[in-house]
Amino acid sequence: MNKATRIEMVERAFTLLDNKDTTRVDDIYLSPVASYTCTDWLAQEEAILFKDYPLLVAFSCDLPKAGDFITNDDMGAPLLVVRDRDGGINAFFNTCRHRGAKLASGCGRAQTGFSCPYHAWNYDFTGKLRAIPDQVSFPGVDKAEHGLVKLPVVEKYGMIWLCPTPGKDFDIDAQLGGLEQGLVEDLKAYGFADYHPYSQQRLHCKMNWKMMLDTFLEPYHFAPLHPTTVGPLLYHNLCLLDTYGQNLREAVIRKSIEKQRDQPKENWDIVPDSALVYLLFPNAGLVMQRDHVELWRSYPIPGKPDECIVQMDYYIPEPAETQSAKDHWERNMDLAVRTVLEEDIPGVEGIQAGLSSGANSHCTFGRNEPALIHFQREVARAIGRA
Ligand code: FES
Ligand SMILES: [Fe+2]
Repeated sequence: MNKATRIEMVERAFTLLDNKDTTRVDDIYLSPVASYTCTDWLAQEEAILFKDYPLLVAFSCDLPKAGDFITNDDMGAPLLVVRDRDGGINAFFNTCRHRGAKLASGCGRAQTGFSCPYHAWNYDFTGKLRAIPDQVSFPGVDKAEHGLVKLPVVEKYGMIWLCPTPGKDFDIDAQLGGLEQGLVEDLKAYGFADYHPYSQQRLHCKMNWKMMLDTFLEPYHFAPLHPTTVGPLLYHNLCLLDTYGQNLREAVIRKSIEKQRDQPKENWDIVPDSALVYLLFPNAGLVMQRDHVELWRSYPIPGKPDECIVQMDYYIPEPAETQSAKDHWERNMDLAVRTVLEEDIPGVEGIQAGLSSGANSHCTFGRNEPALIHFQREVARAIGRA
């Protein structure tokens, strides 16, 4: 985020605080309950949002060295992402070209390449098929034509996006709202390429995949739902919103911002006194918290609109080497995890049960929930249900 934006956002926050106001849109938004409960609706989301769009699959720091790989089974197909010896990133179906076995599982550092656990066909980090044991039994099988099936992948701003459909190339800057826009500028400035993975959690939740993101998209719930965790630290029902195409940046404001009122304006800075929530459409929520960043990704489970997989990754700017650094990050993470796992998720699972009951036909999003409205509207639009 550039300096002018850091100052302008503090100014906007003070104006809203002084007027006891928040960012509001012109009208309420009625969102059909079907978007959280209907299997047809979900099938369209899977077919479009999770097949045609670039999806954030990792941070660069998850794969720093040649041979570092991750796998992902949450996008409707087994996927493999690996860094090659030239420093490039490759993405493939994690599917052997012999009879389809999974080449790798979990994540780690492969030493020389990938040897299929089933019959040991061997591939290098660029997906090239190097060896077929007992090759004489495969007459006419050309190794050059049996490399792993590549997927479009882009590494930029310390982040890695892929599209799980072969040949579906994408322009990530256009998807982020355009090169000249603030979102790209923010991501560039954070320097995530130099961050370090600290911890991960994977959860199976009883809620629609969108609800995990919804919970980050309005501070209207802070005082009632988080009275003893983040509630006392953040202003209730106060947000700033900027949208970038289908994406958005929402700032919720820490009460500690008050100390900036006495400072000269050129020293104002929104980052230390807010939590900045970026929705990277369709399924990633990036939460910049002063000195660390949390990545929350949510994935639908086919045929189950009321369940999802949530993956949380916590990244820090320096490796945690000393005990006092470890204690600091543990304390920090404990607050984030307690808030989301013990308060947001049970609250949202309650919402899902309520919506699945059929009691309501729609959700009523208030004028004070503009980020939520933007997200729901963009999903509906993307699948042709606006
Ligand atoms: S399935 Fe991979 S070598 Fe046979
Ligand atoms: Fe919350």
